[in-house]
Amino acid sequence: MIVDFRSDTVTRPSDAMKAAMVAAPLGDDVLGDEPTVQALERRCAELAGKEACLFMPSGSMANLVGISVNTRGGDEVLMHEGAHPINYEAAGPARFAGVQIRPLPGEHGILDVDTVSAAIRPEDDHFAPATLLCIEDTANRGGGSVYPIERLDALTELAHSRGLKTHMDGARIFNAVGASGHSLQRRLRDFDTASFCFSKALGAPVGSVLVGSADAMKLGRRVRKSLGGGMRQSGMLAAACLYALDHNIDRLAVDHANAAALVAGLQAMGLDSRTPPTNMVYVEVPDGPAWQDALEEAGVRCFAVGPTALRLVVHLAIDRAGVDHAIRAFQALQ
Ligand SMILES: Cc1ncc(COP(=O)(O)O)c(C=O)c1O
Repeated sequence: MIVDFRSDTVTRPSDAMKAAMVAAPLGDDVLGDEPTVQALERRCAELAGKEACLFMPSGSMANLVGISVNTRGGDEVLMHEGAHPINYEAAGPARFAGVQIRPLPGEHGILDVDTVSAAIRPEDDHFAPATLLCIEDTANRGGGSVYPIERLDALTELAHSRGLKTHMDGARIFNAVGASGHSLQRRLRDFDTASFCFSKALGAPVGSVLVGSADAMKLGRRVRKSLGGGMRQSGMLAAACLYALDHNIDRLAVDHANAAALVAGLQAMGLDSRTPPTNMVYVEVPDGPAWQDALEEAGVRCFAVGPTALRLVVHLAIDRAGVDHAIRAFQALQ
């Protein structure tokens, strides 16, 4: 038995999802007549409470286009030091949007208002003007943490009052929606743009979206094209995302329960692991890389994320039996 906890991106499309992809009506999205992409974009805009939406091949491109439409070259973008664009997007914002990222601290990946407020510097020729605040919810490197809604409100209010736009990296926003009980619309209410992904946790093979105002998405369409992200019969991919919206959102609660069960098992054997707010489990071990290899031998795939830390992500291809298998494998290493 091999259970793959490396990421919630490893899931394969189900037969039913593949059938929906094959059955999708198709057109040419660059020429503006892709009916399935347009259906997905309409649905996501409505769900998010925004005017418009753009289908993207990846979360990284959705973030990059989001950053591009909210800034100009030479601007400064504020985000948590553990945020995805600064750690894992190959310097895309610097290379293609020409912005400088200012990394900020915050417990469990969550920014606080005083830190952000202090980071917005006064107007001065020496300083790159901060024009965008990015928030990641759930916060991946924060352990799948969920922003309290009051914090989202306070941060977006602060940003707007100081002249900054706001972008939400909502790669796993539906996990935050499920864990918090607030709707997607409510969580995104005060964000100028937001990205979210269907290829993480929701089981689609490819696909993210960017939502925002009609003007921002008009510009975003141009930026996406310049990055090589204009796609043709992409309705086949959008159909998988529509399927995910219909079938794989409510079940995220199962992943959260399985992640909690995994942590309970790890804590019961004396390992240091924080009870996960969503589907990400981080655990302290004596030697991260050595434990990663030993667990792999035992059929449990995960990543060492530091000298003494492992990350295990629970998703729709992992059931309770998979969790129990992992707990037994950890026990054998004790
Ligand atoms: C929080 C977050 N944002 C953005 C991304 C980028 O998504 P993609 O891998 O589709 O480019 C990821 C990927 O795991 C992520 O975890």
